[in-house]
Amino acid sequence: MARTLTGITPSGTLHIGNYFGAMRPAIEAQKAGDCFYFIANYHSMTTVTDATERRAHTLGIALDWLACGLDPKVSVFWRQSDVPEVTELTWMLGSVTPMGLLERAHSYKDKTAKGISPNFGLFAYPVLMAADILLYDTHRVPVGKDQKQHLEMTRDIAIKFNETYGADTLVVPEPVIREDVAVVPGLDGQKMSKSYGNTIEIFGDEKALRKKIMGIKMDSRTPAEPKPDADQNLAIQLLKLVAPAEVAADFENRLRAGGLGYGDLKKALFEHYWNYFAAARTRRAELAANLDHVEAVLRDGAQRARAVASVVLQRSRKASGLE
Ligand code: ADP
Ligand code: TRP
Repeated sequence: MARTLTGITPSGTLHIGNYFGAMRPAIEAQKAGDCFYFIANYHSMTTVTDATERRAHTLGIALDWLACGLDPKVSVFWRQSDVPEVTELTWMLGSVTPMGLLERAHSYKDKTAKGISPNFGLFAYPVLMAADILLYDTHRVPVGKDQKQHLEMTRDIAIKFNETYGADTLVVPEPVIREDVAVVPGLDGQKMSKSYGNTIEIFGDEKALRKKIMGIKMDSRTPAEPKPDADQNLAIQLLKLVAPAEVAADFENRLRAGGLGYGDLKKALFEHYWNYFAAARTRRAELAANLDHVEAVLRDGAQRARAVASVVLQRSRKASGLE
């Protein structure tokens, strides 16, 4: 069976763009089975140097994913650093990775251009990512567009390793770039992104989130005026994600015809959004009250991940003459 694997960066609060763009597809992929999902806490070391922050974000992401439907009985779900063998494969891969390949990485160039002072980890980031993927004989790697180059590098590195040490040592994976997933617009109409400060969080304080949604800027047309561009309305677009199709269509029709005020529309949006995540919110609170269980889930995942990793690592050690 084709194995699907992806890494989740532990980087703060998730928004509904992350949910519809990345989490929901990953959770749906569980139906086909053999999914490997891990929290990339080694990767976070390249930019975050606060230990408390890393711990908190790692745990927070675990809670978010489990609450949203990641089923650890179906998927293997673990914390990257609980399988430290990945760092050994990183070294082995790094030694067949040309400098030029890493020098061309957009993410490295972008981060240094933003003023992040480059360290070895940031430069080697794509090699660690390649190790993440190759250590588990992965076939498919679903990622956002921004990770496309990293996947190409992973393939290049795997091919180079196999050319050097034996054709069947590592599985060369296929990227699955989520281009078909619609971009979720943020509160200002641009792509929802934590870097634009226009997000609606999946989990958060009810009052603050209601205020955010009620604060969405609309135009100055009166409620009675027909609005032929109703499908372009931001609240309608968001409503289509969180409300049943017929409810969203009804609001859209009423807005188009005239007679629906923006305040009422935004109120409906808030209610449907709040409802959509209600079950996940309850689950998250239960999980947060039982952190020992969450820890046990991650450890169990690490054990299952390690069982696969040790086979691939041994194959690579033998092929390369370490053993
Ligand atoms: P951000 O832009 O908030 O920093 P990330 O880059 O951490 O988000 O996104 C993680 C994944 O979530 C992305 O690879 C992408 O697949 C998905 N994603 C993020 N924002 C959106 C959005 N507005 N619409 C659809 N998918 C999104
Ligand atoms: N770099 C990825 C991101 O920022 C996270 C990641 C780490 C990853 N290792 C991976 C994704 C392996 C897919 C496969 O989103």
